[in-house]
Amino acid sequence: MELGRDLAGRVVAVTGAARGIGRALAVAAGARGARVVALDRDGPGAEAVAAGLGGRGFALDVGDAAAVAAILTRIEAEIGPIALYGSNAGILERDPDPELATSADLDSWARSWSVNVMGHVHAARVLVPLWRARGGGAFLGTVSAAGLLSQIGSAPYGATKHAALAFLEHLAIAHAADGIRVAALCPQGVDTAMLGAASAASRDGVLSPEAVAEAAFDGLAAGRFLILPHPQVAAYARRRAEDPERWLAGMARLRQAMLAEA
Ligand SMILES: NC(=O)c1ccc[n+]([C@@H]2O[C@H](COP(=O)([O-])OP(=O)(O)OC[C@H]3O[C@@H](n4cnc5c(N)ncnc54)[C@H](O)[C@@H]3O)[C@@H](O)[C@H]2O)c1
Repeated sequence: MELGRDLAGRVVAVTGAARGIGRALAVAAGARGARVVALDRDGPGAEAVAAGLGGRGFALDVGDAAAVAAILTRIEAEIGPIALYGSNAGILERDPDPELATSADLDSWARSWSVNVMGHVHAARVLVPLWRARGGGAFLGTVSAAGLLSQIGSAPYGATKHAALAFLEHLAIAHAADGIRVAALCPQGVDTAMLGAASAASRDGVLSPEAVAEAAFDGLAAGRFLILPHPQVAAYARRRAEDPERWLAGMARLRQAMLAEA
């Protein structure tokens, strides 16, 4: 199946689809002929997006394992086999004290872990065995450049996005031979409700959610694992790997500059 280009009649489910990057992924899938299922904590928002695409929308909290299993089972039974799962929902909770990297409370850590990591895990635990049995399927996880680099101003975001990328790598390594395609979408700044004013992610330019969705489908079509809508991220990741001390010192200077500007 040429996932990036032709999705005619295929079922594509996207989480966090009520707005932002998830909505753009749903619209891009619809434009490629997919039968779109929009999922979001915001049920009416998901339904509204789906209605515009002739698809279906449901309320879902991706951090709720039982709810994820129930909705995926229902989609498979009522709509059809899920060909592509856009595991996109995520949350960014900033450190309450920007000067203190340990200021996020335990509830913030738990919420970030539940959505940004377990959201992928709960879905994969249902879909990967199904896809193995039928010889294929694709999992597109929205991570972030923060999963390769860091997130100045949010310890839970940086840590959970690194964990999400590690999980997606694990899936890709383990199940490529089963015909399961895995991709990690890692943008920097994207013009959505999530993007704050003082974000290092904005420094290389803010992309529209639509441009990020096009990059995602181009990346799928090209068979890539790592999809980087901002090309600068590849160079940053390389520098971090080649000289971690130099990279950390540069990030510390960037953080100081951002605190001074704030
Ligand atoms: N905006 C950026 O600059 C940026 C950059 C890199 C990565 N990302 C990632 O892109 C993804 C989408 O972010 P966005 O910018 O579109 O944000 P957004 O806040 O505009 O949209 C996120 C959507 O996810 C939904 N959502 C949140 N928690 C959920 C849950 N538990 N279950 C189901 N739905 C839930 C929200 O209701 C919302 O509709 C996230 O994973 C985010 O981390 C965003």
